[in-house]
Amino acid sequence: MVSITVTVDDVRRTVDVEPRTLLAHLLREQLGKTGTVVGCDTSNCGACTVLLDGISVKSCAVLAVQADGSSIDTVEGLADADGTLHPVQQAFHEHHGLQCGYCTPGMLMRAVCLVRENPSPTEEEVREGMKGNMCRCTGYQGIVDAVLAYAESDGERAATGESDPGAVADQGGTSAAPASAGAAPAGAATSTAQAGAGTATGGQPTGGQPSGAAVEELQ
Ligand code: FES
Ligand code: FES
Repeated sequence: MVSITVTVDDVRRTVDVEPRTLLAHLLREQLGKTGTVVGCDTSNCGACTVLLDGISVKSCAVLAVQADGSSIDTVEGLADADGTLHPVQQAFHEHHGLQCGYCTPGMLMRAVCLVRENPSPTEEEVREGMKGNMCRCTGYQGIVDAVLAYAESDGERAATGESDPGAVADQGGTSAAPASAGAAPAGAATSTAQAGAGTATGGQPTGGQPSGAAVEELQ
């Protein structure tokens, strides 16, 4: 076992993990963060996306030990303590960006990162930036509309970190890097220009394998 310290949704935790433990499993099974869900466990669907030092990553593609010393923001940290929805949650609500909701935690966290990187995205840029996250229900249009609405309502504040979880912990480089999607547990964060999910390890961007289905459906 290895002792690691992570700050999850602003709470610092020290835990013992096995070297093979995935960040997604650490969050869900040891830290009780079940708002982060696992859809595929193979870095394809994006449902497990969280922010790792401000960068969206697929947490099933990151080893827990790789997150040692990092700040992690999950969907559970988005809303205010009084239950007021984060602007990205409000936008998904208003624009019907979800149906069953399984993909939603990952969609929301990816959208937060995308809009911080690009406060005024075009529809094409949203589709490109979200293509590492798959949805079986919505047909994507509502999701795209929601992300555009979020950017319009809150993009500038998100860019300055005022309403953006993970921004404080962000060590920079988000404009050049990582977005979502991921390849293997050894990978680093991926870029929005890349298709897949990205993992973050040591801050080196790596390209995940794009999810063909997701890419296809979003375009
Ligand atoms: S669970 Fe599907 S990408 Fe992580
Ligand atoms: S809302 Fe059901 S998978 Fe996206």
